[in-house]
Amino acid sequence: MPDLDPPQRQATDTLMLTGFWYRALPADRVHLNQLHKATLLEIPLVIGRDRANQPFALRDSCPHRGMPLNCGHFDGENLECGYHGWQFDVHDGQCQLIPSLTTDQKMRVDRIYAGSYPCEEQDNFIWVYIPDPAPAGAGFGPPAEACEPAPAIEKFTSKFKLAYLQAEMPVSIDHGIIGLMDPAHGPFVHQAWWWRTRHSIHEKAKNFEPIPNGFRMSAHTPSSNSAPYKLLRLYADADSITTTIDFVLPNIRTETIRAGKYWFSSLTTVTPITRSHCRIDVVAAWNLFRWVPFVPDLLKFVFAKFVEQDRRTMELQAEGLKYNPHLMLIDDADRPAKWYFQLKAAHLEAKRTGQPMKHPMAGPVMLKWRS
Ligand code: FES
Ligand SMILES: [Fe+2]
Repeated sequence: MPDLDPPQRQATDTLMLTGFWYRALPADRVHLNQLHKATLLEIPLVIGRDRANQPFALRDSCPHRGMPLNCGHFDGENLECGYHGWQFDVHDGQCQLIPSLTTDQKMRVDRIYAGSYPCEEQDNFIWVYIPDPAPAGAGFGPPAEACEPAPAIEKFTSKFKLAYLQAEMPVSIDHGIIGLMDPAHGPFVHQAWWWRTRHSIHEKAKNFEPIPNGFRMSAHTPSSNSAPYKLLRLYADADSITTTIDFVLPNIRTETIRAGKYWFSSLTTVTPITRSHCRIDVVAAWNLFRWVPFVPDLLKFVFAKFVEQDRRTMELQAEGLKYNPHLMLIDDADRPAKWYFQLKAAHLEAKRTGQPMKHPMAGPVMLKWRS
């Protein structure tokens, strides 16, 4: 038998990747004529909707003297700072008025900007694009452009249901993400009498392949322990069910389950709030049981249970992490976590050198573990 690789020691860093879209707030919590606070990658934001219902995101700090803009006045078009009344266009952040200027003072007000960020509404969430930081001391200019639209859930029919769940975790983005992709905690964290017990643990083998910026667990018949699968089996022949799970940088896990004309699709993100806090948002869309009032609630209940179990585990883990331990990553159960760290490093290296990203996976591989 070949020797197993020794465990890999891995230090998590606190680096949060810029140049990507992040989920900021559930769209149904952002109302017309109200200003909301949010934090992404340690950047304070004020988020709202203009008169036409279009969302916007500004840095929540006035460029004049740092007053939080969320305490200001918003008329549906311009945001007026509560300290000296400077007014800013909420979409591009450009200053419109400085009330203290006299008519003979010809200051170029239009050259002043409050920092603003590309902002889009997609699948029940307000997404904000966090660009690479500008050179220190440069001040704010017009907003950066995002090179692609905010990520969307894949949908296969025009009619579907949509639901979201969220939970905050007192751990860094890295712990949040590797917890999300970790196959070995299921039997210990997610046991319930109505679901599975730790005695249902068995050997699994799954194929993985590289995809741009990430990796895919290739289409396969899902584990009999998976939640949507148990429900789908009531509707479709077990062998016709396939699932595909992708992870892509910086923080996105998508799962697609198809069974004939029925489908279930989810897009889960782990968002860095600060160096030591992240938030998990699960948004799911599906076309089965749309007409049965009870089943979506059941699905939501099952997911809420799972997310709460993960949240509680990470809350406890944060206690141990106070003492800065190194991590140990073992094969094969922690191989996805190793790929995550390698992808992150490869992404940063590509950015530094301007060369195309070198994918850490050479090709498809099979991983085996017990769970
Ligand atoms: S601090 Fe905002 S206008 Fe002065
Ligand atoms: Fe979990």
